[in-house]
Order: sequence, then structure tokens, then C-alpha cells
Amino acid sequence: MPLLESCRFRIKPKTINQIVESIESTGLCVIEKVWDQLFLKELCQHGNSLFKLKDKAIQKNNLSTTEIPQYFGAFYSIEDHVMDEEFYTCILQSKFPYLFKKLFNGDFALMRNERVLRRVDPIFPLRFSAFHTDGQLKDLACRGLHSKREFTIWTPLVNVVDDKTPRLMLIDKKDTENFKDFYMNNAITLPNQVKVRIHVLSTLNIDLEKKYQPELLIKRKEIYSQITDRFLCYAPKIKLGDCIIFDRDIWHSSFIPENFSKKRISLDYRIVGDHIPTEDMRFDGKFFRSKKHFLFRKDIFFTENYRVKSHS
Ligand SMILES: [Fe+2]
Repeated sequence: MPLLESCRFRIKPKTINQIVESIESTGLCVIEKVWDQLFLKELCQHGNSLFKLKDKAIQKNNLSTTEIPQYFGAFYSIEDHVMDEEFYTCILQSKFPYLFKKLFNGDFALMRNERVLRRVDPIFPLRFSAFHTDGQLKDLACRGLHSKREFTIWTPLVNVVDDKTPRLMLIDKKDTENFKDFYMNNAITLPNQVKVRIHVLSTLNIDLEKKYQPELLIKRKEIYSQITDRFLCYAPKIKLGDCIIFDRDIWHSSFIPENFSKKRISLDYRIVGDHIPTEDMRFDGKFFRSKKHFLFRKDIFFTENYRVKSHS
């Protein structure tokens, strides 16, 4: 089955309901021309410098043992305080709040420590995010804020429009359960009769990578081709300034094109609804503490400061 074309829209009053409907029916939507391109270019430079620093540090054995898995997983949070402020200003000045308020039917919250830069680089062909679902803020969304839902906004910091640059691959909401079944229950056989479940490819395993990189690359290609044949898949080509928004339960992975030869850095961040906590006997008020706890850590960016601009 060929890759499907996802819905794509710019955020406008006349498209806002179509965006929400697209997310409801497929679990995802491409949003075009929503970011300030200058900010994304600056963030890309920041990301490149950060990853170069880490590359040097690992060569000199200067990374702590706790940071090594993060380095090999090729992801880092936005830590720079200047970029941090620019990020929020950029969100505030964009049409994102207009969409998010519509999606949550009210205010939304952004987790400060859930904004991640990721690198996919042909130098490390096995190091990328294989299939998984999100939900890093599930606990907060369900207990703390009772908004239940959570969305990820994935943004490439370069154009991802050719067949050399990695994109993002997503499985339609309608295939969520079928895909889970396939992914969790199938195995591949490596030389020496080494058998691994294919979902193991989603976790970083340096030992496996050292021993079997060529075989793993071949197997990965076979599996991804099977996935594309069997499931409703998307891997939209999108330009700098666009993003993909998807529900936390959507299975997704990096999409490595046939002629993978270009590096890609991307940003993802997550949003939950900022609903007023309601009384809930099951949690015995814990959600209030949870909310205060997160507030104390200044991890949440609350939206009281936002005033959604009128787009009429
Ligand atoms: Fe993810």
C-alpha cells in the first residue's frame, strides 16, 4: 500500500474545524506555515552546535554515564535560556494558541522539560526513534489537569521534502490496535540464531548495534516495507515552518528514505489541556498536589498569559 496523503491546512477560522476533524478521524494533521522560519533556523544552529559539543565530549570520554544513553538516543532538551524565551514568544505570536484552545476547548499547558531536539544522522544509521507512542504527560493530563488528552507537535528544523532526508512516519488511528499487535509480537532472526522482537528495535541497544549493524539495517528495511504494505501509514513531506500535530496514542517513528544521506534535526513539544481540576474521589485530591508539584518545579508554562488573538 502506498503511503497515504495526510490532511494539511493552515490555521484559519475557516479551516480550524477541518483540522480538529482530521485529528479526530486519523489522529494527526499537517499544519502549514505556522512557525517563524527565522526562529527555526536559529534553533537548528543551536541544535547543531549542541550535538557537535556532545560529539566532541564523547570522543574525549567526557560524557557522564547518565548522559551516554541520551547521547546515543540522539535527543536533548532545549536548555538554552535565550532559546527558551524565544520559543515561548514564538508560540505566543503564532496561531498555535488559537488551534490548541479549540482542541482542548479551553486553555492549554506546555511542559517546559518536554521540548526535545532530536538528530537523525546518516553517520549513525540505526540511531533514530523507532515506533512508539507518546504520553509523557499522561499522568499530568489525567490526574493533575483532568484534560485526559495530550498532543505532540513535531517540527523539522530543515525542509523534509526530498528522498534523502528523514521524515516522520505515523500510523493512522484506525490501525492503532492492529499495529500494536504486529509490532509487539513479531520477531527477527539475526546471525547465530539470535532472535529479537521487532519492538526491541525501538530501544537503544549499543551491544546489538555493534555486533549486527549491517544485518539490522537490512531487517529494518524489510520490516518497514511490511508495515507500509499492511497498515495505514503517513510520512508527509513538509517544509520548514510546517509541523505535524498528533495524538499521544498514535504510533510513530522516524521514516528513513531509500537514499538517506542528509542529517535532520527536529523539535517536538507536547501540550495538555489546562482544565480546572474537578473533585475526583479516586485520586482523593492528589491531582491538586500534582499540579502544585509541577508548578513548584516551574515545569509547566501556563496559558493565563496568553490571549488568543482574533483571527476573524
Ligand atoms: Fe515520540
